[in-house]
Amino acid sequence: MSDSIILGIESSCDDTSAAIIKGNCILSNIAANQAIHKEYGGVVPELASRAHQQNIIPVVEKSITKANIQQNAISAIGFTRGPGLLGSLLVGTSFAKSLAMSLNVPLIEVNHLQAHILAHFIEDANPMPPQFPFLCLTVSGGHTMIVLVKDYFDMEIIGKTIDDAAGEAFDKIGKIFDLDYPAGPIIDRLAREGNPDAFTFNKPRMENYDYSFSGIKTSVLYFIQKEVRKNPDFVKENLNDLCASVQRTIVEILMAKLEKAAKELNIKEVAIAGGVSANSALRKAMQDHHEKSGWNIYIPKFEYTTDNAAMIAMVAQLKYERGEFTDMKTSATAKYDL
Ligand code: KG4
Ligand code: ZN
Repeated sequence: MSDSIILGIESSCDDTSAAIIKGNCILSNIAANQAIHKEYGGVVPELASRAHQQNIIPVVEKSITKANIQQNAISAIGFTRGPGLLGSLLVGTSFAKSLAMSLNVPLIEVNHLQAHILAHFIEDANPMPPQFPFLCLTVSGGHTMIVLVKDYFDMEIIGKTIDDAAGEAFDKIGKIFDLDYPAGPIIDRLAREGNPDAFTFNKPRMENYDYSFSGIKTSVLYFIQKEVRKNPDFVKENLNDLCASVQRTIVEILMAKLEKAAKELNIKEVAIAGGVSANSALRKAMQDHHEKSGWNIYIPKFEYTTDNAAMIAMVAQLKYERGEFTDMKTSATAKYDL
C-alpha cells in the first residue's frame, strides 16, 4: 500500500468526524458527538445538519494538527457520500468539495457501509486483516445485514433486516425502559449486572439469512405494560435483568443467522462491523465461536466500530490507489447500495 496521506470526512448521521490516514495507518481520528439529540430521544435531522456545520471546520483542523502534518501534505480528500441523513451528508460533501478544490487534490466518494466493513483493514484494527472471502455482520443504528465480502469492492448482501436494525431495537427498547438515547451502550453496561435468562422474549422466524427486530420490541413493550399495571416500579426494580435478557435475545438472533451462513457457505473468516459491534455480549459470542467452531474472528477496535472518519479515510486510500476519483459534480445521496 502506498503511504499517501489522505483526509477522511464523515457526517452521515450525528457524529462529525475527520481523520488522517497514511498508508493504512491512522494518524488522527477526531469526532464531535452531538449531545443535543438526547433531549429528543433520537436524532433530529435539522439539528444534526446544523451541528455538523458548526463542528466541521474545528474537527478537520484538529485532525490535521493532531496528525502533525501540513495541509499541503494531503494527497486526496475522502468523504461519506451516503447512505445517511441527506442534510447531514450535504454538509460533509460540500465541505469536502470546497477543500479539495482549494488544495487542488482529488475528491473520493465513500459508501458509509463499505467503510464500516473495510475498517478491518486499518493497520491497528485487528492483529491480522481478514482474508477474502469473509462474512461480515454489519450492525448499526440504521442497518443490519450479513455481507459476503469477496474483495475490497466486491460485496454481496446475503441477508438483511426487513424492518428495524439491531441498533434501532436496542435504542427503541431502551426508550421503553426510559433510558437516554442512544440506549445501546447503556443497555450493554446495565446488562453486566443482570441475569440474561431472567426473561424470555419472542424471537422471529425468518427465512434465509434475513432478520426482523420489530417483534422483540413489541414483545418487550407488551410485557412491560402488563407488569407495570401490577407493579409501577417493575422496570426500575428489574432493570439489570431486563437489559441482560434483551441483549441476550438480540445477540442470539444476530448470531443464529451468522452461524447458518458460515456453515452453509463453508466460510470460517467471520467479522463484525458497525456501532452494535461494540456490544460486549456480541463480542463474547464471536469469541465463543472462535473457540467452538474454529472461526477466525475479526472484531474491530472500539474506536472503529461506531461512526468514525478513520474508516472513511481507509476506503479513500484504497480508492486512491485504484485511481477512483469523484467528479466535482457529485452530490450526497441518502440511499447508496453496497
Ligand atoms: O454505526 P453507528 O455509530 O451509526 C449508524 O450508522 O447507525 O451505530 C449506532 C448504533 C446505535 O443504535 C447504538 O445504540 C448502537 O450502535 N450501539 C450499541 C453499542 N454501542 C453502540 N448497541 C449495543 N451495545 C453497544 N455497546
Ligand atoms: Zn454507521
